[in-house]
Amino acid sequence: MFTRFNAIKFIQPTSSNMNKDQIIENAIAYVKATLKDAEGGHDWWHIYRVWKTAKQIAQQETGKAFVVELGALLHDIADSKFHDGDESIGPAKARSFLQSQQVDDATTAHVVNIIENISFKGGKEKQVFKSLELDIVQDADRLDAMGAIGIARAFNYGGFKNRKLYDPEVKPNLMKSKEQYKKNADPTINHFYEKLFLLKDRMNTAAGKQMAAARHEYMNEYVDRFYKEWEGEI
Ligand code: ADP
Ligand code: NI
Repeated sequence: MFTRFNAIKFIQPTSSNMNKDQIIENAIAYVKATLKDAEGGHDWWHIYRVWKTAKQIAQQETGKAFVVELGALLHDIADSKFHDGDESIGPAKARSFLQSQQVDDATTAHVVNIIENISFKGGKEKQVFKSLELDIVQDADRLDAMGAIGIARAFNYGGFKNRKLYDPEVKPNLMKSKEQYKKNADPTINHFYEKLFLLKDRMNTAAGKQMAAARHEYMNEYVDRFYKEWEGEI
């Protein structure tokens, strides 16, 4: 029954040894092994940061910590961007992992729902599942695109796509369609206006909003300095 996960050094589940800490340890091992060749913005360390941030928010929001931790750890286990747009692989992998760990059905269903709904963009499709724990994991994922880390991820992504840092002649385009957004080759600074500066108003929880405000402020200061240095003013 557990053969699919045998390559990873788990403590194999028996009814007596499965406590929550052990399941979290096993989830970490599973995610690290699965994402070992992932690109820099979606690797184990992205998961690690989202996990830590989500735990932090959960403490303040009194969300169910076990669900939040598993949701954060498994949220990008198979990002559809890297699987030909297939959105069913991630939830399916998470479900079979959780079942292999004898996680109870209610927790498993909740974590799978989080993974299915975390990248809900608003607008077109109706969001059918809502929970505090989903709100928390979604906030933590968004926070990783903001602040010092968010700046690093954006320029890393821009470099990966061979984009310019900045071009004063290419103005940000806030009205991009989903298609334009995907294939755009604009300078990385434009991404701040098209996505990163919009995130603070999309946060769900009070704790998330507070963290987002600080990270937003930091990005603002960053771009101000960027333009001044660009012109040799400071
Ligand atoms: P998600 O985190 O929801 O999977 P993305 O894959 O779009 O979202 O983003 C991953 C990281 O890469 C984020 O930090 C994001 O800001 C950055 N990124 C995405 N698109 C661009 C872009 N056009 N220019 C610069 N950075 C980008
Ligand atoms: Ni993510």
